[in-house]
Amino acid sequence: MDLEGKEIDESKQGEATMVASNTEGSKKLYLESYGCQMNFSDSEVVASILSKNGYSTTKDVDEADVILMNTCSIREKAEDRVRNKLAQHNKRKKQNPELVIGILGCMAERLKKDLLEQEKLVDLVAGPDAYRDLPNLISEVGSGQKAVNVLLSREETYADIAPVRLDKGGVTGFISIMRGCDNMCSFCVVPFTRGRERSRDPESIVREAQDMLDKGYKEVTLLGQNVDSYKWNITKKGEIIDPEKEVVTFAQLMEKVALVSPQLRVRFSTSHPKDMTDDVLEVMAKYKNICKYIHLPVQSGNSDVLKRMNRGYSREWYLNRIDAIKRIVPDAFISTDIITGFCGETEEEHQDTLSLMKEVGYEFSYMFFYSERPKTLAERKFEDDIPLEVKKRRLTEVQSMQAVLAETANEKTVGNTYEVLIEGISKRSDEHVYGRNSQNLTVIFPREDFKAGDYVNVKIESYTSATVKGVAVK
Ligand code: 5AD
Ligand code: SF4
Repeated sequence: MDLEGKEIDESKQGEATMVASNTEGSKKLYLESYGCQMNFSDSEVVASILSKNGYSTTKDVDEADVILMNTCSIREKAEDRVRNKLAQHNKRKKQNPELVIGILGCMAERLKKDLLEQEKLVDLVAGPDAYRDLPNLISEVGSGQKAVNVLLSREETYADIAPVRLDKGGVTGFISIMRGCDNMCSFCVVPFTRGRERSRDPESIVREAQDMLDKGYKEVTLLGQNVDSYKWNITKKGEIIDPEKEVVTFAQLMEKVALVSPQLRVRFSTSHPKDMTDDVLEVMAKYKNICKYIHLPVQSGNSDVLKRMNRGYSREWYLNRIDAIKRIVPDAFISTDIITGFCGETEEEHQDTLSLMKEVGYEFSYMFFYSERPKTLAERKFEDDIPLEVKKRRLTEVQSMQAVLAETANEKTVGNTYEVLIEGISKRSDEHVYGRNSQNLTVIFPREDFKAGDYVNVKIESYTSATVKGVAVK
């Protein structure tokens, strides 16, 4: 999985929260999201389901009747953060015993009843496939019971639910195209918390993109744990399910969404190196509105480590995919995810990660040290034997390498002009706006009379390792 996004990139690491904006309704729901973009997208489905049951979202936790936390289990730190926050919410409950506190998402699925019975931190637990049941679960709590639904589904995609967009007046938004993951990377808890992979009806995806365009959105990101294995009406083995109906692959889906409007940018996340085919790259190259940015998580630059990680590809295979990107979409920026200190990682193996980073020249990376997760293949098969300080030192080395690579990449943009989609006013100065170019590079430039949602050609004048600055050109 590796669902990233520049503006909430910390959130994917379980670091940040998003609180829903105000919507109409008599009972008040305070909805907090942690973790990956999929959780943010799911929260919009949750808001939609509950809005039909008289709930409106609020930004003020003190006026909430129900607090729901949509959580992440990817690393231990992400879970610790949620526990701390739950303790704070429980203090509120002491003053207001009617308050319902619920936990959604991956932690709900992983810990099931434990949070309710052992830790006594919540009243309600709902896993990622149980959100349609939330109105019932909340009323069960109202009648004095503790409510749990952590059933995983093979079919649920929430295709018919129109998400309530929680960032009103937004320019960019997510569309979930599939759920779950069948990959079983040995370090990863996601297949256990989000269940089996299933793809969503393409018609409902295109409809959602059109609807977002009609509401003023200018960019959609198609989300899935492994978008390259999106498949509609065809099994993994290639058997057509209904001969009367259309077969849709990820490349074809992306093309359908790109055709909604040239004014609507299309991004996607996340690609998996073992499944990323040239036809996806060819569709990217064909449409100007498909952004020239690929997030292709490598995790490690050493083939033996990749084998232990059960990633399904070698260093050579990965580099071949990078060559394909550079050949077919030469102007694309590439980013990755890296884990340092995985079980048994030697210094040489770690050096292979550094050398691969250099060889690819990533524009961005999301870097983590390995955090053992209960029940994963790695936990059962390997010893978590790299001392924390070694994991952290290797992480620092990887981060230093990335800082150099990003600076080099950004330096190369100076003097170039890019079309930038404005997302808002810069956090540092209200005289400036920020947005991203097709390659997902954040660009800051003087505000003039521009507003969020405008496409502006910007000439880059200066850079740091994190951002570039420029001026609008006519
Ligand atoms: N420890 C550290 N990082 C992890 N990731 C997934 N599981 C773990 C883990 N147990 C990272 C991977 C993945 C990203 C979303 O999080 O790099 O691509
Ligand atoms: Fe991503 Fe692998 Fe985890 Fe699936 S198992 S979500 S592909 S890291």
